[in-house]
Amino acid sequence: DSAMNLSTELLDWYDRHARTMPWRVSPADRARGVRPDPYAVWLSEIMLQQTTVAAVRDYFLKFTRIWPKVTDLAAAEDADVMAAWAGLGYYARARNLLKCARVVASEHAGRFPDTYEALLKLPGIGPYTAAAVSAIAFDRSSVVVDGNVERVIARLHAVETPLPDAKPELTALAADLTPEARPGDYAQAVMDLGATICTPRSPACGICPWSGPCRARAMGLQSELPRKRPK
Ligand code: ADE
Repeated sequence: DSAMNLSTELLDWYDRHARTMPWRVSPADRARGVRPDPYAVWLSEIMLQQTTVAAVRDYFLKFTRIWPKVTDLAAAEDADVMAAWAGLGYYARARNLLKCARVVASEHAGRFPDTYEALLKLPGIGPYTAAAVSAIAFDRSSVVVDGNVERVIARLHAVETPLPDAKPELTALAADLTPEARPGDYAQAVMDLGATICTPRSPACGICPWSGPCRARAMGLQSELPRKRPK
């Protein structure tokens, strides 16, 4: 399969099976020209670091109800934001969240910058978040690689090198797969595939849109990959 066929097959699956999330624009709405709110995409990505989608949902709704725009969040009292964050853990994320909102408000006129490079300069935004926000909010073909994506790609290409050594190889393979068309939907499609079908244990290969081309499945290695180097 060519990279284009692979991404097209995954996008077709996403059109039918995308999970609904309060910060997401459905593929159907996206096709009609509805754009995601960069503030919502950024807020969700910060919350989703080290926290599950199920746990994030109510916090995301609470934050956007109290602070509907990044300029509202920028104007909030530190203590109010920390109190609203309570329970999500990793409190450095909340402090950086507020710092970032204030830089966007004061130095970017309240609008998130729309490139990977500019996003990367903001407080609390590392390579993963800059790639995710530039792809999902601005449809740039950034290479979005988190733990789910590493697992999916390691299986698709039967990468036997253990993690973390395999990271550069997996990033290069992920870059080859990333399409020019619909990169935001594509990034979310790989995440959904990893979360719902290509799961760490007992992946549901019978209903996977990539089971045909999957080299791990052909070798019976789908539950073994990715390997991990003992610490
Ligand atoms: N995990 C992190 N970001 C995500 C997203 N945009 N969709 C689903 N799961 C995610």
